[in-house]
This record gives sequence, C-alpha cells and structure tokens, in this order.
Amino acid sequence: TNRTFTMIKPDAVQDGNSGSIIKMIEEAGFRIVALKKTQLTPERAGQFYAVHAERPFYNDLCKYMSSGQIVPMILEKENAVADFRTLIGATNPANADEGTIRKLFAKSIEANAIHGSDSDENAEIEGNFFFGGLEQF
Ligand code: GTP
Ligand code: MG
Repeated sequence: TNRTFTMIKPDAVQDGNSGSIIKMIEEAGFRIVALKKTQLTPERAGQFYAVHAERPFYNDLCKYMSSGQIVPMILEKENAVADFRTLIGATNPANADEGTIRKLFAKSIEANAIHGSDSDENAEIEGNFFFGGLEQF
C-alpha cells in the first residue's frame, strides 16, 4: 500500500460536511493514518501552496485556506494518490464527475471542499507539513 495526503478545506468544514466526507473516504477503502482539526495562518497557507506562488489566484487561495478550520489527514491504500484524485473529482466542481466529493460538496473552483496530493513525493512532503513522525502510523 501507499499513502496520500488530504485536507478538508474551510468551506466544507464550515458547512458541517467533514463527517460525510470522511465517511466517503473510508467507504472507498482508505485507512486514516493521521487526522486532526486545525487552522492555517495566511503565511502557513502560502508555504503549503508555494508551488502556486506565481499563479494569479495565489493571494485569494491563501486567504481562503486560512479563513477557517481544516481537517488534514494522511490516508493509506493501494494506488492511494491516483485513486484519491478520482474520488475527489476535478478541481472545478462544474467539471467533476457525478458522485465525487467535489461534485457533492464543492462550491466553486476555489472553495472546492478538499485537497488531494498530486504525487507520492508531494504526499510525503504535505503529510510531514502537518504531522510529526510519531503521528504517522
Ligand atoms: P488541490 O488538491 O487543492 O491541490 O487542488 P488541485 O490539485 O485539483 O488544483 P491545483 O493544485 O491546480 O490548485 C490548487 C487550489 O487552488 C485548487 O484546489 C483551488 O482551491 C485553487 N484554484 C485552482 N485554480 C484556481 C482558479 O483558477 N481560481 C481560483 N480562485 N482558485 C483556483
Ligand atoms: Mg494540486
């Protein structure tokens, strides 16, 4: 098995959808390795999304991602990164397949309910951003 990293974003936490989303994740066969509820500062959101620093939406993204509590998690499954991206659906919920987490819960291309790592390498970096080694069993 391998691992991916996710966080339920502020819009979905605020709307009370964390439980429904976690249920979908577990029903899809992912084991929750680590989980907590926390809030990012704009600076820390900027570090997390540093890869997007040159994008026009970067400042809005940092503001949004620090606007409320989030639920970061490390997840484990066969083919975790790709299968999780399938489960969450396209970045823009207008393009997300029926039954995906973003189709069900996302509000817009920005407030899109959930994050999923895009590679094994980034999954490890992102998991380590939120969780210490002793939390990752
Ligand atoms: P993540 O799982 O959150 O990384 O989303 P993604 O991999 O599907 O998309 P990407 O990494 O390209 O973008 C990161 C996040 O920036 C998205 O999830 C959105 O919250 C936001 N974002 C992406 N594109 C746009 C855009 O065109 N406008 C705005 N306002 N936000 C965007
Ligand atoms: Mg991404």
